[in-house]
Amino acid sequence: MASDRPRVLSGIQPTAGSFHLGNYLGAVRQWVALQETHDAFYMVVDLHAITVPQDPAQLRANTRLAAAQLLAAGLDPDRCTLFVQSHVPEHAQLGWVMNCLTGFGEASRMTQFKDKSAKQGAERATVGLFTYPILQVADILLYQANQVPVGEDQRQHIELTRDLAERFNTRLGQTFTLPEAYILKETGKIYDLQDPTAKMSKSASSPKGLINLLDEPRTTAKKVKSAVTDTDTVVRYDVENKPGVSNLLSIYSTLTGETIAELEKKYEGKLYGALKGDLADVMVEFVTPFRSRTQAYLDDPETLDSILAKGAEKARAVAAETLALAYDRVGFLPAKH
Ligand code: TYM
Repeated sequence: MASDRPRVLSGIQPTAGSFHLGNYLGAVRQWVALQETHDAFYMVVDLHAITVPQDPAQLRANTRLAAAQLLAAGLDPDRCTLFVQSHVPEHAQLGWVMNCLTGFGEASRMTQFKDKSAKQGAERATVGLFTYPILQVADILLYQANQVPVGEDQRQHIELTRDLAERFNTRLGQTFTLPEAYILKETGKIYDLQDPTAKMSKSASSPKGLINLLDEPRTTAKKVKSAVTDTDTVVRYDVENKPGVSNLLSIYSTLTGETIAELEKKYEGKLYGALKGDLADVMVEFVTPFRSRTQAYLDDPETLDSILAKGAEKARAVAAETLALAYDRVGFLPAKH
């Protein structure tokens, strides 16, 4: 892997079991493309997962499942470094340093925390959930990442990363690269099929609006066909007035490579049913091989675990170097071995 390539880093939580279409189109699809041009580090963020209660056996299974899905989506361990966050202890170590650099008020302004803790109630929300974005900062800075491919909902966390990197560099000397968010306009936010003004999310109020990649293809087709659109009939991309149709067009365009303009032309004079029926076919064609590839990786846990072990080793080499530099800058006495 050429080290003169710019570096990317990103992560995904192993909490939901199946990835959903928003995860794939908003993030993972870009991860696959970027491994061709960048020095790429991708991880399953199990430390982040335990900010809400997890069943241990389920967490272990979901961590393997997440890695299997990333490989099924096209990550190639010869082209990128794929690893599990808890296998690289430097994440928690740098996370602590970053905690000590973050203002309490600054952390309180993170909107994802506010949303999640409002749902759970302040008493049940953990301190880990509160400091979640700061661990994410450490994830990114440890690898001196230039770009972070994510969906729109992560933008604020990347901004925080830049702020803290700058603060550290100014106070203690140049140490960290300032990363940029890599968010695609077309797919940075994929919407719920039943409520096309809300982000597609595993915590959506109705499962009918959520496309899980590992669902039965039949179920996926059904969900696409019953997507909420509007009372008009014209297939036109207009996010403000036609959020449902626009969301379907974005998904369709990204999965097939046809432009939105081409799709508008294709469905001129046709009803929404035609668009939905065809998109259902496109989706089924996409998820069917994805499911079987995922299953093939799960059927061979030894290979999967060895990919993750090699990934952790490569990741650790980079992370340890950055952590050592950061510890030195902070003024920690070096440990003698
Ligand atoms: P997570 O696991 O919630 O989501 C994984 C990725 O999917 C994107 N995403 C979406 N994109 C478009 N439309 C949607 N509806 C949609 N829903 C989810 C997310 O933006 C994300 O990119 N905090 C992160 C994980 C993380 C991380 C990191 C990311 C931990 N450390 C370091 C980057 C760098 C998260 O919870 O993602």
